[in-house]
Amino acid sequence: MKTIDPSAPGILITADALRNLVYMLWKQAGSNDREASLIADHLVQANLSGHDSHGVGMIPRYVAVLRDGALHLNQHARIVRDAGAVLTIDGGAGFGQVIAHEAMEHGIAKAKKLGICAVGLRNSHHVGRIGHWAEQCAAEGLASFHFVNVAGFAQVAAFGGIDGRFGTNPFCAAFPRSGQPPLVLDFATSSIAVGKTRVAYNKGEQVPEGCLIDHAGRPTTEPKVIHEAPFGSLKPFGGHKGFGMAAMCEIFAGAMTGGFTTRAETRNESGPIINCMLSVLIDPAAFDAPDAQAEADAFVAWVKASPTLDGKGEIYFPGDPERARRAARGAEGIAIDHTTWNQIIASALAVGVPASEMESLASS
Ligand SMILES: NC(=O)c1ccc[n+]([C@@H]2O[C@H](COP(=O)([O-])OP(=O)(O)OC[C@H]3O[C@@H](n4cnc5c(N)ncnc54)[C@H](O)[C@@H]3O)[C@@H](O)[C@H]2O)c1
Repeated sequence: MKTIDPSAPGILITADALRNLVYMLWKQAGSNDREASLIADHLVQANLSGHDSHGVGMIPRYVAVLRDGALHLNQHARIVRDAGAVLTIDGGAGFGQVIAHEAMEHGIAKAKKLGICAVGLRNSHHVGRIGHWAEQCAAEGLASFHFVNVAGFAQVAAFGGIDGRFGTNPFCAAFPRSGQPPLVLDFATSSIAVGKTRVAYNKGEQVPEGCLIDHAGRPTTEPKVIHEAPFGSLKPFGGHKGFGMAAMCEIFAGAMTGGFTTRAETRNESGPIINCMLSVLIDPAAFDAPDAQAEADAFVAWVKASPTLDGKGEIYFPGDPERARRAARGAEGIAIDHTTWNQIIASALAVGVPASEMESLASS
Protein backbone atom coordinates (compact mmCIF):
# COMPACT_ATOMS: atom_id res chain seq x y z
CA MET A 1 0.00 0.00 0.00
CA LYS A 2 1.29 3.52 -0.68
CA THR A 3 0.01 7.05 -0.27
CA ILE A 4 -0.86 8.43 -3.70
CA ASP A 5 1.01 11.70 -3.01
CA PRO A 6 0.99 14.08 -0.06
CA SER A 7 -1.61 16.37 -1.60
CA ALA A 8 -3.84 13.53 -2.81
CA PRO A 9 -6.78 12.69 -0.58
CA GLY A 10 -6.26 8.96 -0.15
CA ILE A 11 -4.23 5.75 -0.38
CA LEU A 12 -3.58 3.36 -3.23
CA ILE A 13 -3.74 -0.35 -2.47
CA THR A 14 -3.51 -3.48 -4.61
CA ALA A 15 -6.59 -5.63 -5.04
CA ASP A 16 -4.79 -8.58 -3.41
CA ALA A 17 -3.79 -6.60 -0.30
CA LEU A 18 -7.31 -5.22 0.01
CA ARG A 19 -8.83 -8.68 -0.38
CA ASN A 20 -6.52 -10.00 2.37
CA LEU A 21 -7.58 -7.21 4.70
CA VAL A 22 -11.30 -7.81 4.11
CA TYR A 23 -10.88 -11.58 4.51
CA MET A 24 -8.93 -11.11 7.75
CA LEU A 25 -11.50 -8.65 9.11
CA TRP A 26 -14.49 -10.97 8.63
CA LYS A 27 -12.62 -14.04 9.84
CA GLN A 28 -11.80 -12.10 12.99
CA ALA A 29 -15.46 -11.03 13.26
CA GLY A 30 -16.55 -14.69 13.21
CA SER A 31 -17.23 -15.57 9.56
CA ASN A 32 -16.09 -18.96 8.34
CA ASP A 33 -13.49 -19.22 5.55
CA ARG A 34 -16.01 -19.38 2.72
CA GLU A 35 -18.05 -16.44 3.98
CA ALA A 36 -14.98 -14.26 4.53
CA SER A 37 -13.74 -15.15 1.01
CA LEU A 38 -17.08 -14.44 -0.69
CA ILE A 39 -17.38 -11.06 1.08
CA ALA A 40 -13.80 -10.13 0.19
CA ASP A 41 -14.22 -11.18 -3.46
CA HIS A 42 -17.48 -9.25 -3.82
CA LEU A 43 -16.41 -6.01 -2.17
CA VAL A 44 -13.02 -5.82 -3.89
CA GLN A 45 -14.57 -6.72 -7.25
CA ALA A 46 -17.00 -3.79 -6.79
CA ASN A 47 -14.04 -1.44 -6.19
CA LEU A 48 -12.16 -2.92 -9.15
CA SER A 49 -15.27 -2.39 -11.31
CA GLY A 50 -15.31 1.29 -10.34
CA HIS A 51 -18.33 1.03 -8.03
CA ASP A 52 -16.67 2.26 -4.82
CA SER A 53 -20.19 2.86 -3.50
CA HIS A 54 -20.54 -0.93 -3.11
CA GLY A 55 -16.97 -1.86 -2.31
CA VAL A 56 -14.95 -1.92 0.91
CA GLY A 57 -16.50 1.40 1.95
CA MET A 58 -19.53 -0.65 3.04
CA ILE A 59 -17.48 -2.35 5.78
CA PRO A 60 -18.06 0.24 8.55
CA ARG A 61 -21.81 -0.02 8.03
CA TYR A 62 -21.71 -3.84 8.01
CA VAL A 63 -19.65 -3.88 11.23
CA ALA A 64 -22.07 -1.43 12.90
CA VAL A 65 -25.05 -3.62 11.93
CA LEU A 66 -23.21 -6.75 13.13
CA ARG A 67 -22.50 -5.15 16.51
CA ASP A 68 -26.19 -4.21 16.77
CA GLY A 69 -27.01 -7.90 16.33
CA ALA A 70 -29.00 -7.34 13.13
CA LEU A 71 -26.57 -9.05 10.70
CA HIS A 72 -26.14 -12.78 11.25
CA LEU A 73 -22.90 -14.50 10.33
CA ASN A 74 -22.55 -17.86 8.53
CA GLN A 75 -26.15 -18.08 7.32
CA HIS A 76 -27.23 -19.92 4.18
CA ALA A 77 -29.89 -19.34 1.54
CA ARG A 78 -32.84 -21.42 2.74
CA ILE A 79 -35.37 -22.64 0.17
CA VAL A 80 -38.74 -22.14 1.82
CA ARG A 81 -40.77 -23.15 -1.23
CA ASP A 82 -39.79 -25.08 -4.35
CA ALA A 83 -42.55 -24.78 -6.96
CA GLY A 84 -40.50 -26.16 -9.85
CA ALA A 85 -39.36 -23.17 -11.88
CA VAL A 86 -40.19 -20.80 -9.01
CA LEU A 87 -38.09 -20.76 -5.84
CA THR A 88 -38.75 -18.75 -2.69
CA ILE A 89 -35.58 -18.30 -0.66
CA ASP A 90 -35.08 -16.73 2.78
CA GLY A 91 -31.74 -15.14 3.66
CA GLY A 92 -32.13 -15.15 7.45
CA ALA A 93 -30.60 -11.62 7.59
CA GLY A 94 -27.30 -13.26 6.64
CA PHE A 95 -24.51 -11.75 4.59
CA GLY A 96 -25.91 -10.94 1.13
CA GLN A 97 -22.55 -11.79 -0.42
CA VAL A 98 -23.19 -15.41 0.63
CA ILE A 99 -26.98 -15.54 0.48
CA ALA A 100 -27.28 -14.13 -3.06
CA HIS A 101 -24.41 -16.35 -4.24
CA GLU A 102 -26.20 -19.44 -2.96
CA ALA A 103 -29.61 -18.23 -4.22
CA MET A 104 -28.09 -17.88 -7.70
CA GLU A 105 -26.53 -21.37 -7.40
CA HIS A 106 -30.01 -22.79 -6.72
CA GLY A 107 -31.53 -20.78 -9.60
CA ILE A 108 -28.75 -21.77 -12.01
CA ALA A 109 -29.27 -25.47 -11.32
CA LYS A 110 -33.03 -25.11 -11.96
CA ALA A 111 -32.69 -22.93 -15.07
CA LYS A 112 -30.23 -25.40 -16.60
CA LYS A 113 -32.75 -28.17 -16.05
CA LEU A 114 -36.02 -26.36 -16.83
CA GLY A 115 -34.90 -23.53 -19.15
CA ILE A 116 -36.03 -20.85 -16.73
CA CYS A 117 -36.16 -20.16 -13.01
CA ALA A 118 -37.60 -17.26 -11.03
CA VAL A 119 -35.84 -16.87 -7.69
CA GLY A 120 -37.64 -14.81 -5.06
CA LEU A 121 -35.03 -13.93 -2.45
CA ARG A 122 -36.17 -12.17 0.72
CA ASN A 123 -34.69 -11.11 4.01
CA SER A 124 -31.07 -11.00 2.90
CA HIS A 125 -28.64 -8.45 4.26
CA HIS A 126 -27.19 -6.11 1.58
CA VAL A 127 -26.51 -8.05 -1.64
CA GLY A 128 -24.13 -5.31 -2.88
CA ARG A 129 -23.44 -4.86 -6.58
CA ILE A 130 -26.22 -6.66 -8.44
CA GLY A 131 -24.08 -7.09 -11.56
CA HIS A 132 -22.01 -9.57 -9.54
CA TRP A 133 -25.00 -11.94 -9.45
CA ALA A 134 -25.83 -11.44 -13.12
CA GLU A 135 -22.19 -12.24 -13.92
CA GLN A 136 -22.44 -15.44 -11.86
CA CYS A 137 -25.43 -16.48 -14.03
CA ALA A 138 -23.74 -15.37 -17.27
CA ALA A 139 -20.64 -17.43 -16.42
CA GLU A 140 -22.97 -20.45 -16.56
CA GLY A 141 -24.37 -19.37 -19.94
CA LEU A 142 -27.60 -17.92 -18.53
CA ALA A 143 -29.31 -14.62 -19.29
CA SER A 144 -30.89 -12.99 -16.25
CA PHE A 145 -32.70 -9.96 -14.98
CA HIS A 146 -33.04 -8.80 -11.38
CA PHE A 147 -35.39 -6.42 -9.59
CA VAL A 148 -34.24 -5.37 -6.12
CA ASN A 149 -35.69 -3.29 -3.29
CA VAL A 150 -33.90 -1.80 -0.31
CA ALA A 151 -36.67 -2.67 2.11
CA GLY A 152 -37.47 0.08 4.61
CA PHE A 153 -35.06 2.68 3.18
CA ALA A 154 -37.20 5.69 2.27
CA GLN A 155 -34.47 7.77 0.63
CA VAL A 156 -35.78 8.38 -2.90
CA ALA A 157 -38.65 10.73 -3.72
CA ALA A 158 -41.46 9.80 -6.11
CA PHE A 159 -41.71 11.66 -9.42
CA GLY A 160 -43.37 14.91 -8.34
CA GLY A 161 -42.85 14.18 -4.61
CA ILE A 162 -40.54 16.01 -2.19
CA ASP A 163 -39.72 13.40 0.45
CA GLY A 164 -38.14 9.93 0.48
CA ARG A 165 -40.60 7.07 -0.01
CA PHE A 166 -38.52 4.10 -1.27
CA GLY A 167 -34.95 2.93 -1.77
CA THR A 168 -32.41 3.16 -4.56
CA ASN A 169 -33.91 -0.09 -5.90
CA PRO A 170 -31.42 -1.40 -8.48
CA PHE A 171 -32.30 -3.14 -11.73
CA CYS A 172 -29.91 -5.42 -13.57
CA ALA A 173 -30.05 -7.45 -16.81
CA ALA A 174 -27.31 -9.53 -18.42
CA PHE A 175 -26.86 -11.46 -21.65
CA PRO A 176 -24.06 -14.04 -21.96
CA ARG A 177 -22.06 -14.02 -25.22
CA SER A 178 -20.03 -16.87 -26.60
CA GLY A 179 -16.33 -16.12 -26.69
CA GLN A 180 -16.90 -12.58 -25.39
CA PRO A 181 -17.74 -10.95 -22.08
CA PRO A 182 -21.46 -10.67 -21.23
CA LEU A 183 -23.51 -7.51 -21.60
CA VAL A 184 -24.29 -6.38 -18.04
CA LEU A 185 -26.67 -3.51 -17.41
CA ASP A 186 -26.74 -2.71 -13.68
CA PHE A 187 -27.89 0.53 -12.09
CA ALA A 188 -29.73 2.10 -9.17
CA THR A 189 -33.11 3.54 -10.17
CA SER A 190 -32.22 6.67 -8.19
CA SER A 191 -30.34 9.39 -10.08
CA ILE A 192 -27.20 8.17 -8.27
CA ALA A 193 -26.64 5.29 -5.83
CA VAL A 194 -26.80 6.36 -2.16
CA GLY A 195 -23.28 4.96 -1.74
CA LYS A 196 -22.08 7.52 -4.28
CA THR A 197 -23.38 10.28 -1.99
CA ARG A 198 -21.38 8.62 0.85
CA VAL A 199 -18.22 8.60 -1.28
CA ALA A 200 -18.73 12.30 -2.17
CA TYR A 201 -19.56 13.17 1.46
CA ASN A 202 -16.39 11.44 2.70
CA LYS A 203 -14.30 13.23 0.08
CA GLY A 204 -15.93 16.61 0.79
CA GLU A 205 -17.19 16.82 -2.81
CA GLN A 206 -20.52 17.87 -4.34
CA VAL A 207 -22.68 15.49 -6.42
CA PRO A 208 -23.90 16.37 -9.93
CA GLU A 209 -26.91 18.66 -10.30
CA GLY A 210 -30.34 17.11 -10.61
CA CYS A 211 -29.71 14.20 -8.22
CA LEU A 212 -30.73 15.51 -4.78
CA ILE A 213 -33.36 17.64 -3.07
CA ASP A 214 -33.14 18.99 0.48
CA HIS A 215 -35.70 18.48 3.28
CA ALA A 216 -37.94 21.14 1.74
CA GLY A 217 -37.73 19.68 -1.76
CA ARG A 218 -35.26 22.27 -3.07
CA PRO A 219 -32.58 21.09 -5.57
CA THR A 220 -29.10 20.74 -4.03
CA THR A 221 -25.70 19.24 -4.89
CA GLU A 222 -24.74 18.81 -1.20
CA PRO A 223 -24.43 15.06 -0.31
CA LYS A 224 -24.79 15.79 3.42
CA VAL A 225 -28.58 15.99 2.97
CA ILE A 226 -28.48 12.17 2.77
CA HIS A 227 -26.09 11.77 5.75
CA GLU A 228 -27.07 14.51 8.22
CA ALA A 229 -30.39 15.86 9.49
CA PRO A 230 -32.46 17.58 8.25
CA PHE A 231 -32.59 14.81 5.66
CA GLY A 232 -33.39 15.40 2.02
CA SER A 233 -33.88 12.81 -0.70
CA LEU A 234 -32.48 11.40 -3.90
CA LYS A 235 -34.49 11.84 -7.08
CA PRO A 236 -35.36 8.88 -9.30
CA PHE A 237 -33.43 8.70 -12.61
CA GLY A 238 -35.28 9.49 -15.83
CA GLY A 239 -38.27 11.33 -14.39
CA HIS A 240 -41.54 9.37 -14.42
CA LYS A 241 -39.91 6.38 -16.16
CA GLY A 242 -37.26 5.87 -13.47
CA PHE A 243 -39.87 6.34 -10.77
CA GLY A 244 -42.07 3.69 -12.41
CA MET A 245 -39.17 1.27 -12.60
CA ALA A 246 -38.24 1.86 -8.95
CA ALA A 247 -41.87 1.20 -7.99
CA MET A 248 -41.90 -2.11 -9.92
CA CYS A 249 -38.62 -3.11 -8.19
CA GLU A 250 -40.32 -2.44 -4.86
CA ILE A 251 -43.36 -4.56 -5.75
CA PHE A 252 -41.60 -7.43 -7.57
CA ALA A 253 -38.81 -7.75 -5.00
CA GLY A 254 -40.46 -6.62 -1.79
CA ALA A 255 -44.03 -7.90 -2.20
CA MET A 256 -43.90 -10.85 -4.63
CA THR A 257 -41.07 -12.70 -2.83
CA GLY A 258 -42.84 -12.60 0.55
CA GLY A 259 -40.40 -9.95 1.75
CA PHE A 260 -41.59 -6.45 2.58
CA THR A 261 -42.00 -3.07 0.94
CA THR A 262 -40.98 0.36 2.19
CA ARG A 263 -43.66 2.28 4.09
CA ALA A 264 -44.17 4.05 7.41
CA GLU A 265 -44.38 0.79 9.40
CA THR A 266 -41.21 -0.73 7.90
CA ARG A 267 -39.10 2.42 7.58
CA ASN A 268 -35.63 2.04 9.16
CA GLU A 269 -32.73 3.70 7.34
CA SER A 270 -30.31 3.33 10.25
CA GLY A 271 -30.74 -0.43 10.76
CA PRO A 272 -29.67 -3.43 8.69
CA ILE A 273 -29.78 -3.03 4.90
CA ILE A 274 -32.34 -5.63 3.93
CA ASN A 275 -32.51 -6.40 0.21
CA CYS A 276 -35.19 -8.49 -1.46
CA MET A 277 -34.48 -9.58 -5.03
CA LEU A 278 -36.57 -11.16 -7.77
CA SER A 279 -34.17 -12.80 -10.24
CA VAL A 280 -35.30 -14.47 -13.44
CA LEU A 281 -32.68 -16.77 -14.98
CA ILE A 282 -33.15 -17.99 -18.57
CA ASP A 283 -31.20 -20.55 -20.57
CA PRO A 284 -31.06 -18.96 -24.07
CA ALA A 285 -30.56 -22.44 -25.53
CA ALA A 286 -34.10 -23.32 -24.45
CA PHE A 287 -35.53 -20.99 -27.12
CA ASP A 288 -35.80 -22.00 -30.76
CA ALA A 289 -33.23 -19.32 -31.63
CA PRO A 290 -30.05 -20.81 -33.14
CA ASP A 291 -28.99 -17.37 -34.44
CA ALA A 292 -29.40 -15.53 -31.13
CA GLN A 293 -25.65 -15.03 -30.58
CA ALA A 294 -25.04 -13.94 -34.18
CA GLU A 295 -27.99 -11.52 -34.01
CA ALA A 296 -26.73 -10.03 -30.78
CA ASP A 297 -23.16 -9.77 -32.13
CA ALA A 298 -24.39 -8.07 -35.32
CA PHE A 299 -26.40 -5.55 -33.29
CA VAL A 300 -23.47 -4.74 -31.00
CA ALA A 301 -21.12 -4.32 -33.98
CA TRP A 302 -23.65 -2.08 -35.76
CA VAL A 303 -24.07 0.21 -32.75
CA LYS A 304 -20.35 0.30 -31.94
CA ALA A 305 -19.67 1.49 -35.50
CA SER A 306 -21.63 4.69 -34.76
CA PRO A 307 -19.60 7.89 -35.22
CA THR A 308 -18.91 9.44 -31.81
CA LEU A 309 -19.70 12.98 -30.74
CA ASP A 310 -16.06 13.99 -30.27
CA GLY A 311 -14.82 11.88 -33.17
CA LYS A 312 -12.65 9.94 -30.70
CA GLY A 313 -13.28 7.22 -28.16
CA GLU A 314 -15.70 4.35 -28.55
CA ILE A 315 -19.32 3.51 -27.90
CA TYR A 316 -19.58 1.56 -24.67
CA PHE A 317 -22.11 -1.20 -24.13
CA PRO A 318 -23.39 -2.05 -20.64
CA GLY A 319 -20.58 -3.83 -18.83
CA ASP A 320 -17.77 -2.23 -20.89
CA PRO A 321 -16.96 0.57 -18.40
CA GLU A 322 -16.66 -1.92 -15.52
CA ARG A 323 -14.29 -4.13 -17.54
CA ALA A 324 -12.15 -1.15 -18.54
CA ARG A 325 -11.90 -0.07 -14.89
CA ARG A 326 -11.04 -3.60 -13.75
CA ALA A 327 -8.12 -3.63 -16.16
CA ALA A 328 -6.92 -0.18 -15.04
CA ARG A 329 -7.39 -0.69 -11.28
CA GLY A 330 -6.03 -4.23 -11.47
CA ALA A 331 -2.81 -2.77 -12.85
CA GLU A 332 -2.60 0.50 -10.92
CA GLY A 333 -4.29 -0.36 -7.62
CA ILE A 334 -7.45 0.86 -5.92
CA ALA A 335 -7.60 4.41 -4.55
CA ILE A 336 -9.46 4.89 -1.26
CA ASP A 337 -10.03 8.29 0.32
CA HIS A 338 -8.61 8.89 3.82
CA THR A 339 -11.98 9.17 5.56
CA THR A 340 -13.16 5.83 4.21
CA TRP A 341 -9.79 4.19 4.89
CA ASN A 342 -9.74 5.40 8.49
CA GLN A 343 -13.30 4.10 8.95
CA ILE A 344 -12.23 0.69 7.63
CA ILE A 345 -9.20 0.60 9.96
CA ALA A 346 -11.41 1.53 12.92
CA SER A 347 -13.86 -1.24 11.94
CA ALA A 348 -11.05 -3.79 11.69
CA LEU A 349 -9.76 -2.84 15.15
CA ALA A 350 -13.33 -2.91 16.52
CA VAL A 351 -13.81 -6.55 15.50
CA GLY A 352 -10.45 -7.45 17.05
CA VAL A 353 -7.97 -7.45 14.15
CA PRO A 354 -4.64 -6.90 15.97
CA ALA A 355 -3.16 -3.42 15.46
CA SER A 356 0.15 -5.11 14.47
CA GLU A 357 -1.60 -6.70 11.44
CA MET A 358 -2.87 -3.28 10.36
CA GLU A 359 0.59 -1.77 10.79
CA SER A 360 2.21 -4.47 8.68
CA LEU A 361 -0.40 -3.84 5.97
CA ALA A 362 0.27 -0.09 6.11
CA SER A 363 4.00 -0.65 5.63
CA SER A 364 3.66 -3.19 2.79
N1 LIG B 1 -27.78 -3.65 -3.15
C1 LIG B 1 -28.38 -2.49 -3.18
O1 LIG B 1 -29.22 -2.20 -2.33
C2 LIG B 1 -28.04 -1.49 -4.24
C3 LIG B 1 -28.78 -0.32 -4.33
C4 LIG B 1 -28.45 0.60 -5.32
C5 LIG B 1 -27.41 0.36 -6.21
N2 LIG B 1 -26.71 -0.80 -6.10
C6 LIG B 1 -25.56 -1.05 -6.99
O2 LIG B 1 -24.83 0.17 -7.15
C7 LIG B 1 -24.05 0.06 -8.31
C8 LIG B 1 -23.93 1.41 -8.94
O3 LIG B 1 -25.18 1.84 -9.48
P1 LIG B 1 -25.23 3.21 -10.29
O4 LIG B 1 -26.64 3.56 -10.52
O5 LIG B 1 -24.36 4.19 -9.61
O6 LIG B 1 -24.53 2.77 -11.65
P2 LIG B 1 -24.09 3.71 -12.88
O7 LIG B 1 -24.87 4.96 -12.91
O8 LIG B 1 -22.60 3.81 -12.87
O9 LIG B 1 -24.54 2.84 -14.14
C9 LIG B 1 -23.92 1.60 -14.33
C10 LIG B 1 -24.47 0.94 -15.58
O10 LIG B 1 -24.39 1.80 -16.71
C11 LIG B 1 -23.45 1.27 -17.66
N3 LIG B 1 -22.69 2.41 -18.20
C12 LIG B 1 -22.00 3.33 -17.49
N4 LIG B 1 -21.44 4.22 -18.30
C13 LIG B 1 -21.78 3.87 -19.56
C14 LIG B 1 -21.50 4.42 -20.86
N5 LIG B 1 -20.75 5.52 -21.03
N6 LIG B 1 -22.02 3.81 -21.94
C15 LIG B 1 -22.78 2.70 -21.79
N7 LIG B 1 -23.07 2.13 -20.59
C16 LIG B 1 -22.58 2.72 -19.49
C17 LIG B 1 -22.57 0.33 -16.87
O11 LIG B 1 -21.99 -0.68 -17.68
C18 LIG B 1 -23.61 -0.25 -15.91
O12 LIG B 1 -24.38 -1.25 -16.52
C19 LIG B 1 -24.70 -1.02 -9.16
O13 LIG B 1 -23.80 -2.10 -9.22
C20 LIG B 1 -25.96 -1.41 -8.39
O14 LIG B 1 -26.29 -2.79 -8.46
C21 LIG B 1 -27.01 -1.72 -5.14
